[in-house]
Amino acid sequence: MQLFKVSSDLRVYLAAARRERKTIGFVPTMGALHEGHLSLIEASRRANDLTVCSIFVNPIQFNNPEDLEKYPRTLDNDRALLEAAGCDVVFAPSAAEMYPTPPVLSLGFGALETVMEGTFRPGHFNGVGLVVARLFHLVQPDRAYFGQKDLQQVAVVRRLVQDLAFPIEVVSCPTLREADGLAMSSRNRRLSPEQRGQASLLSEVLQQAKNSFLNGHSVEDVKAHLRNRLAAFPNFNLEYFEIVHAQTLQPVTEEQEPGATALCVAAYLGPVRLIDNLVF
Ligand code: PAJ
Repeated sequence: MQLFKVSSDLRVYLAAARRERKTIGFVPTMGALHEGHLSLIEASRRANDLTVCSIFVNPIQFNNPEDLEKYPRTLDNDRALLEAAGCDVVFAPSAAEMYPTPPVLSLGFGALETVMEGTFRPGHFNGVGLVVARLFHLVQPDRAYFGQKDLQQVAVVRRLVQDLAFPIEVVSCPTLREADGLAMSSRNRRLSPEQRGQASLLSEVLQQAKNSFLNGHSVEDVKAHLRNRLAAFPNFNLEYFEIVHAQTLQPVTEEQEPGATALCVAAYLGPVRLIDNLVF
């Protein structure tokens, strides 16, 4: 496995691969890798000749300085996991390498970012859009892999690709979960043992909400029920729970065509912000 920290070295290496007509799959990450990330590597390996993974904790997508500071950084361990997973190339730039000059361009995603994560994390998708666009230019992949866990991010990246005509296929991959249902996340390792014990409640209430929505309960009833169940646990602090169209992210009141209804939740558990969703 090749490791690059300098983008010009990465470019030279990938240009040679492209001349050999190798197809390139790309998995952008912020490191602290877990099986969820590795499932994206596997999906890329299945469909491409070469798999590139980037590891970069992107400062401009963090709206909360403490979240950025506490974000786990485990490069040596990440490299070992990627090597074992059969990843071909790792790109792990410094912030100065990624942003030689602070970007002045800003990206807006219209209605895609006036809901959910966009509301509670102002500037977040501008930061995601800029870093993903920069990485797409550097790597020039044929396919790029994203987790459905970050549903709104997938929608935003699809729009970025569409609006800027990147010749890249965006592939959305299912959310990997722990045995108790908790969606895997780099932030989970910041949970105390007590919080970790309670964390599966989030996926449990989401599943219940799905069932009652499919059983014909109104959006208001489903929302109130979920709010009440979480309120019984003082460690949990619900930020939002929305029932939306999985592609437009706009609120819906009835089940949509298969695969287009999404239940999305964000909550703090102690100091750690967790998100999860179900699409059906
Ligand atoms: P990060 O949170 O490291 O996630 C990298 C990719 O892994 C994302 O596409 C995310 O949706 C996916 N992922 C995370 N948890 C997952 C799980 N449990 N199952 C399946 N996939 C999962 O998302 C980012 O980094 C950044 O915003 C990034 C796109 C790299 C831009 O900085």
